[in-house]
Amino acid sequence: MNALEGICREVIEKSEWVAIATAGADGPHVVATWGDYLRRLGIADPLRIPVGGMRKTEANLQRDARVELLFGSRQVQGTRGPGKGCAIRGRAEMRAEGTDFAAAKALFPWARAVLVVRVEHVEPQL
Ligand SMILES: Cc1cc2nc3c(=O)[nH]c(=O)nc-3n(C[C@H](O)[C@H](O)[C@H](O)COP(=O)(O)O)c2cc1C
Repeated sequence: MNALEGICREVIEKSEWVAIATAGADGPHVVATWGDYLRRLGIADPLRIPVGGMRKTEANLQRDARVELLFGSRQVQGTRGPGKGCAIRGRAEMRAEGTDFAAAKALFPWARAVLVVRVEHVEPQL
């Protein structure tokens, strides 16, 4: 089974928004995207996120490509009640040209780049 199948796929399908954490020389940095933005570009490896801002995120990724995404939804049943999460670790880069950028730009004309996340580890939470 693909890492983005099963319970984590369900969480990704239901998440309203997604946290995106990078590591900077000055410490951790967290931004977000909307779940429907990520879904419109496909729940597949690599994940793709439209970039309008994310300047600090971009600078962080240039020195350290590691990224962690965190999804969560009350609409998915967890082990102790309604609510399940999924953490995805991987490596990411910003692209302002090529097919991934073209796909993002077609759906989000405001995008200045696309964040492409190669999935390395998927971990359910709750
Ligand atoms: C729920 C939510 C969704 C967001 N979606 C996006 C998005 O899709 N793309 C984007 O560039 N910024 C998005 N932002 C803004 C970023 O979190 C961030 O504040 C901004 O891009 C600046 O990033 P930086 O601190 O890395 O420079 C979103 C913020 C929130 C709270």
